[in-house]
Amino acid sequence: MLFHRRFEHRYPRIVRGQGAYLYDDEGRVYLDAVGGAGVAILGHGLERLARAAAESMRHVSYLHGTQFTTPELEAYGERLVALAPDNLSHVLLMGSGSDAVETALKLAYQYQAGKTGTRRKRKVIATQPGYHGATGLALAVTGKPRDRLLFQGLLPEQCFIPAPDAYRGPGSAEACAMALERKILEEGPEECLAFIVEPVIGASMGIGVPPPGYLQEVRAICDRHDVLLICDEVMCGFGRCGEWFASSLFGVKPDILIQGKGMAAGLMPLSAVYASRAIVEGIHRDGGNFAHGFTFTNHALAAAIGLRVLEHVERHDLLSHVRRQGQVLRERLSELTAFDWVDDVRGLGLFCGFELVADKATRRPFPRSAKVAERVLQRAMARGGNFYFSIGYLPDGTGDSILVMPPYNVTDEELEHLVDILRGTLEDLDPEVRTLRGPAA
Ligand SMILES: Cc1ncc(COP(=O)(O)O)c(C=O)c1O
Repeated sequence: MLFHRRFEHRYPRIVRGQGAYLYDDEGRVYLDAVGGAGVAILGHGLERLARAAAESMRHVSYLHGTQFTTPELEAYGERLVALAPDNLSHVLLMGSGSDAVETALKLAYQYQAGKTGTRRKRKVIATQPGYHGATGLALAVTGKPRDRLLFQGLLPEQCFIPAPDAYRGPGSAEACAMALERKILEEGPEECLAFIVEPVIGASMGIGVPPPGYLQEVRAICDRHDVLLICDEVMCGFGRCGEWFASSLFGVKPDILIQGKGMAAGLMPLSAVYASRAIVEGIHRDGGNFAHGFTFTNHALAAAIGLRVLEHVERHDLLSHVRRQGQVLRERLSELTAFDWVDDVRGLGLFCGFELVADKATRRPFPRSAKVAERVLQRAMARGGNFYFSIGYLPDGTGDSILVMPPYNVTDEELEHLVDILRGTLEDLDPEVRTLRGPAA
């Protein structure tokens, strides 16, 4: 029998989808306000795309990336690189975001080992909160201590600095970036390999947009100490924030960049690792080949679908739509701050979130035991809305926020319905949430 992550949970059985809506086998309808986890970027029921995918499937079943390539695979690589920041000259396709993070870290390590002729550069610095995946290296650099705790014995020790937190944190770009420089100096620049950061933090803190200038400061610090800058755009990239690359919104060119999630609109697992020419040529010079790959690296069918998804987004100018609808969505979500436990609607493009707090004046979170974000998700689901949350991201293990990530082609009516579901959910919960506030410190 199949087992799921939540052993006790009864999962709705979805039998079809159309646009932002999903339908289960008991006749219930769900507005998928998050595309699962920001993956179904074109919604559901993609008839033309599915037909094109089936057409590609008819030609070839599978090609190993070390043996063959295809015209579509090459064309897709060219297209991705043409859109990327101009220092990123190469791209390698993976399956999940975690695969891509593992790949990025190994790429960084192999490059630096070749360049310096030593293995000393091995420490990766990451932010807390921050999320980079569930596999070994990716989990080791994930700034969610509770996620790492259970597997601590398996993981290499890495280094963390506080993520910029515009809602509660010290605010200025310089102050946030200085934490990185201090950490590099503390650990020894000769041992620091890379800084991995989400340009806009996603699932680990209910969206964290950095203060203006933060990433530029970070870029300068990395350059000063020969530390590679890796931008993890698995969640915030590929158009989610209204541009193909979230780092471009901040005028920053990373050495390595990672995308994933919706690259194949959810029809296939597909992620990408972009690398600078210096890295690829360095590895080529020093060792010949990149000593890493999976069975499904550079998967031809995933690339064929990815290429069609990219063309679809471009043809329909969906990134402009993302920017426009994102503005509308944040305005509408701001109306929900009329509830005295809803605050700080934030985000870029269709990457939006808001905070649930016990006290707005002091920004005091709810006790974690109250599980307020979980209650919101559960009640929203009962009302026919599928949302996403972030919990426990503050240093004391509290923190509740809700994420909203509708498809790039979301309609006005779907946005209206989404906000109505949330409003109804908050109204339902308002009386019980008043009893959950816990004592002020
Ligand atoms: C920023 C970021 N990096 C990496 C990952 C890992 O991706 P996956 O779950 O596809 O392995 C995620 C997943 O949510 C993510 O948000």
